[in-house]
Amino acid sequence: MRGAECRCSARLSSVLIIGCGSIGERHLRCFQRTARCAVAACDSNAALLGSMREKYAVPVFASLDAALAGSRFDAAVICTPAPLHLPMAVKLLSAGMHVFIEKPLSIDDALVPAVRAAIASSGRFVAVAYVYHVMPWLAGARGLLSGGGLGKALHASITAGQHFPTFRPAYRDIYYARREQGGGAVQDALTHLLNAVEWLIGPGTRVFCDAAHQALEGVTVEDTVNVTARHGSVLVSYAMNQFQSPNETTILIHCERGSLKIEGHQQRWGVLRTGDKDWSWQKTPPLERDDLFIAQANAFLDGMEGRATPICTFEQAVQTLKFNQAALRSADTGLPVTIE
Ligand SMILES: NC(=O)c1ccc[n+]([C@@H]2O[C@H](COP(=O)([O-])OP(=O)(O)OC[C@H]3O[C@@H](n4cnc5c(N)ncnc54)[C@H](O)[C@@H]3O)[C@@H](O)[C@H]2O)c1
Repeated sequence: MRGAECRCSARLSSVLIIGCGSIGERHLRCFQRTARCAVAACDSNAALLGSMREKYAVPVFASLDAALAGSRFDAAVICTPAPLHLPMAVKLLSAGMHVFIEKPLSIDDALVPAVRAAIASSGRFVAVAYVYHVMPWLAGARGLLSGGGLGKALHASITAGQHFPTFRPAYRDIYYARREQGGGAVQDALTHLLNAVEWLIGPGTRVFCDAAHQALEGVTVEDTVNVTARHGSVLVSYAMNQFQSPNETTILIHCERGSLKIEGHQQRWGVLRTGDKDWSWQKTPPLERDDLFIAQANAFLDGMEGRATPICTFEQAVQTLKFNQAALRSADTGLPVTIE
């Protein structure tokens, strides 16, 4: 950033955080903690912006236009609700910036071709913040699967849930309450699992989704989802809700020569080969949520510098967007949907 408000070292990249709500503040803090970039904040909520300036001593901007008018940044992290993600990405790419986009990529694919073209013509690095890609327990399991050690994946089941009101007490008052803002269990929570499983075993190709509002007070969007899917030749089932007490995620993948289990809540993954009696576990030293976001921020900065990173690519997120949309269409119609 080379603007009047910037006092950062010339050697550091400059990163603008757009939207400093729940996840934006976390990105702000975690990019700052990489010590590899100078961070600035943008939010249309003046009170929130004031508190970002006070807590983190960063330059602040009341709108994206104001930020781009007065300063230059190397990159931006888009942390606004989903309908704004792709319009902002187009604007940032045409300003020559690298772009990190929160999930879900969007609520529809209308601007996907425009962003794809802007990426190609700008040559900038674009990635999507599906944070599971930096979870060591996912990455370890993916290494084993892609190394072919267990043979072909054949069947998978995913069960997950948490008590959303405990983790996000404001859920009634944010994007979550409305599908067209990126809300509901499919676009907000299941999408993390869909994207992670696509990363592990390949893209979803068919989906049959049953979803309903079962429990969360003050909203009508679905909080409970069952999905029967195909990822190519792999049969997959997902079951998740957002009202259960245990905060748990378990991914089981059965392959030709054994099974693999990922327990997100235990931060571990394990393998049980055909003929073995017990799981053999790989456990990660305890990580806090910020540790994952710092790792993700470092991975994005690596990507900006042209280095390899595990974070979710734009095209992987486009595929997951198709899966989200297909799941919602299936839930609405009661019919299975094939994903092109
Ligand atoms: N990766 C994760 O684990 C994770 C967790 C939570 C949310 N998210 C995603 O991040 C996005 C934001 O979620 P959140 O929970 O932080 O929402 P939030 O409502 O807490 O914050 C959104 C912020 O964006 C600001 N904003 C809205 N329009 C703006 C504009 N035009 N210009 C500048 N600021 C604007 C709002 O004032 C608000 O502060 C959503 O897409 C959500 O799905 C991801």
